[in-house]
Amino acid sequence: EKGTYPHYMLKEIDEQPIVIRKIIKEYQAGDNELKLDEDIRSAMKAADRIYIIAAGTSYHAGLVGKGFIEKLAGIPVEVHVASEFSYNMPLLSSKPLFIFISQSGETADSRSVLVKIKEMGHPALTITNVPGSTLSREADYTLHLHAGPEIAVASTKAYTAQIAVLAILAADTANAKGIELPIDLMKELGIVASTMEVLTDQKEEIEQLARDYMATTRNAFFIGRSTDYNVSLEGALKLKEISYIQAEGFAGGELKHGTIALIEDGTPVVALATQENVNYSIRGNVQEVVARGANALIISMRGLEQDDDAFVLPKVHELLTPLVSVIPLQLLAYYAALHRDCDVDKPRNLAKSVTVE
Ligand code: M6R
Repeated sequence: EKGTYPHYMLKEIDEQPIVIRKIIKEYQAGDNELKLDEDIRSAMKAADRIYIIAAGTSYHAGLVGKGFIEKLAGIPVEVHVASEFSYNMPLLSSKPLFIFISQSGETADSRSVLVKIKEMGHPALTITNVPGSTLSREADYTLHLHAGPEIAVASTKAYTAQIAVLAILAADTANAKGIELPIDLMKELGIVASTMEVLTDQKEEIEQLARDYMATTRNAFFIGRSTDYNVSLEGALKLKEISYIQAEGFAGGELKHGTIALIEDGTPVVALATQENVNYSIRGNVQEVVARGANALIISMRGLEQDDDAFVLPKVHELLTPLVSVIPLQLLAYYAALHRDCDVDKPRNLAKSVTVE
């Protein structure tokens, strides 16, 4: 039930710190130990390449997860949109492991890939919020998101849960392979949970930004580099699906190869700047769009902030920034939709789970 909340989406945004704490509890075995099935551990260790298959927001979480698995566990990862993979399968490695990410566990596009790769004899792990769902039953292994029911069509807490569980899976695999971790993951996830609470208490600031930047615009751009680019795709998807503002996420460096032609006086450009190694270059991209009249809304992280930034996130571990940078983007989409009188929880033309291909 949504209780005193006007919308499920807002309730689910607010539940994110609780979900992260629940995930920590469910997956922590003891000091520096993670509780993952031995079978999953072996499957991860045996894989020479991982194929992540998903759709929509779950695909965006997969893009972030690729970074974790490659950086922490040293296994190459490809992330594919399910509906494309089905009909255009790439050459597979000799020992592939498939990871299906799906909040509902019922997405038909993902299931069609699962059926095909099972026929080919490959192992599959499903990461889902609904154990017992089709994708969970038909895969060899399941990891549970523990996010609680997600009712709003726009996915919020499932995205952050997926990212947290993917980080845990990557860290567990690194442990199993004897690779030293550059992060005390459970401790840093605890810091993320507290930071999420700070952010969900800043609704008024974000509501004001939604008024200032999104009230009347027909389009909006989200830019970032590296992991911020992955989050910008999610920010754009959130905004478009519930507020019907045409929104696109772009890699900062790619703008000048065409998209910058769309920037006009007043076009909102939301820029993420949470990564030290690309802070300088994303700032350069912001200048390029501002010079063409864009209305830049910069979301940065403590330590990397500059004077004109609209919103500064408290500092969290560099690997985990998507878990916090997405929150202002979720709230921005929520308030933009609200101010435009859109049906926040049930946007037009969309279903919560897409069970047709
Ligand atoms: O249940 P799934 O995670 O498989 O769903 C995938 C997409 O349909 C879903 O994430 C969709 O993009 C959301 N409406 C995004 O907010």
